[in-house]
Amino acid sequence: MQFLGKNKAPGPKGWPYFGVVFEVKIATLHLTLYDWAKRYGDVFQFNMLGKKFFCINSVDVLRDTFLKEPNATITANRPPTFIGKYSLSNYADVGFASPSPLWTRRRKLTYQLLHAYGEGLTCLEKQILKNLQILKGEVQALDGRNAEPNVVVDNFIWNTVEILLIGRSFGKTGPLQTLLRQLEKHTVISNPGYDTIYSKLPWLRFLPLPASKAYATVSKIRLDLIDQLDKLSNDECAERGIYHTMKEVMKERDKDGKQWLMKENVKCIIYDLYAAGYRTTRAAILSMVHILAKRPDLQRELQKEMDTVIGSEREPRLSDRGDCPRIESFILETLRYISHLPLFVFHAASQSTSIGGYDVEKDTVIVANSWTMHHSEKYWDEPFSFKAERFLDSNGQLFPATHPIRKRLLVFGLGKRSCIGEVFAKSRTFLFLSTLLQTTTIVEPEGITLPEFDPRAMVPGIVIQPQPFEVRFVVRSKRNS
Ligand code: HEM
Repeated sequence: MQFLGKNKAPGPKGWPYFGVVFEVKIATLHLTLYDWAKRYGDVFQFNMLGKKFFCINSVDVLRDTFLKEPNATITANRPPTFIGKYSLSNYADVGFASPSPLWTRRRKLTYQLLHAYGEGLTCLEKQILKNLQILKGEVQALDGRNAEPNVVVDNFIWNTVEILLIGRSFGKTGPLQTLLRQLEKHTVISNPGYDTIYSKLPWLRFLPLPASKAYATVSKIRLDLIDQLDKLSNDECAERGIYHTMKEVMKERDKDGKQWLMKENVKCIIYDLYAAGYRTTRAAILSMVHILAKRPDLQRELQKEMDTVIGSEREPRLSDRGDCPRIESFILETLRYISHLPLFVFHAASQSTSIGGYDVEKDTVIVANSWTMHHSEKYWDEPFSFKAERFLDSNGQLFPATHPIRKRLLVFGLGKRSCIGEVFAKSRTFLFLSTLLQTTTIVEPEGITLPEFDPRAMVPGIVIQPQPFEVRFVVRSKRNS
C-alpha cells in the first residue's frame, strides 16, 4: 500500500514533541479520548512525547482494521515497551511481543491450553468444585457482617490461577500463591507512565529507585515461580495444569533439532497470564458484587433463575450456562458498562497504511478506544445506565453471538491480538457469580452508604478497578431470601 502522508486524520494539535501531554491525565486517558471522539469523530490522531497515536472510536472501523487484511496484519504489532524488552527477556512472551513465526506458535499453544481449561477439563472437576466450596464457606463465615468483598474474590481468583497452572490449589499461604500474590505488590511496572520514562532512559533501572527495585523484584519472583512450579509438577499427583503441558512442549524439537519453546518463554508466558488474567477477572467480579448490592430487584431475578436451573442441592456447572440467559446477559452488560480495559492493550502499525480513509505512518501507536465504543449513544441506548436485560430478546433468551447488538460488544478485543483468556474468564465468572447467588444475598453494608456504581469513577490503570467498598453477604438458607 502506497503511503502519501497527506491525508491526515483530524485531532488536537498539541505542542512540539510534548504533543497533548499537558491536556490529558495519562491515568484516565480514556475519559479525555471519549470527549475528543465527540469532537473529532470515528478516528483521530494526536502526538504525545514524540510518539504518534491513532485512535479508533468506531466499532465498524475497528472491525475493518483488526479483521480485514492487510490492516489486520499491519496493526497486530505491539509498540516497544520497557517491560517487554527488559522484564520479559526481549519480548519472549505473548502479550507484549510483536508477531513472528515463533510468537504465533507461543500464542496458539497458550490459547489452546486456556481454551481447554476454560471449558472445564473433566480431570479438574474435583479441584474446581473444591474451589467453589471454599468460596461458599468463606461467604457463609461472613454472614451478615460488613466485609470488603475483595478478600473472597481474590482468594477465588488466586485458587483458580493455581489450579490452571498446576492442577490444584495449596491455598493462600501455599508456596505458589505466596509468590503470585507478591507480584501484586509491584504493579507499578505495568504503569504506562513509568514504562514511557524507563523506555526513554533504560539506564534508570540500575539506580536505587522504587520502580527500578520493583522491576528487579518481579524478575526474581518470576524465577522463583518457575522453581516452585518445577518442584510441584514433579510431585506424584493425578491433577495436571498448563505447566505440565508446557514442560512437555519444551522437550519437543523441530525438524532441524531445535527447541522452539524455551524455559524463558514459559516464564514470561506465566507472567502474562498473571498480568492479563488477575486484575481483569477481579475488576469484573467485584463490579458485579457492587451492582447487585445496589439492585435487590435484579438480584432476586437472577436468584430465581439460579434456583430454577441449578437449585440449592448441587454446585453450579459450566454446562448450566446455556440455561441461564439472565445471568449471562448480566455478565455481558457488566463487561460493557465497566469496559475495564478501556483502551485495550496498545497496538502499533508495522508499516504505513490507511485506516478509516486516513493515512497512518509506520510505528504509529494504534489505540482501540473500546471505552467510547461501549459508551457511545450512537450504539447503545442510555450507555451510562446499567441495563441487565440489554442482551436478551423479547422471550428472555440471550441474543446469539452473531446478533448486531452482541457484535458491538468488543470487550475481549478481536482479530490477531484478541484475548486468549476469554473462554476461561467467562466460565470462571459464571461459576463465581452463580455460587454467590446460590449461597447468599448481597446487601448494602450497615452504617455506611454504598455509592451507586459509576464506571467513570473507577480507579485508573491499564485495567481500571472498582473503588474499594463494603457489602454484607446474608446467607440465603437462614433468611430464605
Ligand atoms: C474479564 C476478563 C478479561 C477481559 C475483559 C480481557 C480483555 C482483554 C483485551 C481487551 C485484550 C487486548 C486485546 C488487544 O490488544 O487487541 C486482552 C489480551 C490478553 N488477555 Fe485478556 N481479558 C480478560 C481475562 C483474561 C484472562 C483470565 C486471561 C488468562 C488467564 C487473559 C489473557 C490475555 C492475554 C495473554 C492477552 C494478550 C494477547 C495478545 O497480545 O496476543 N485475559 N484481554
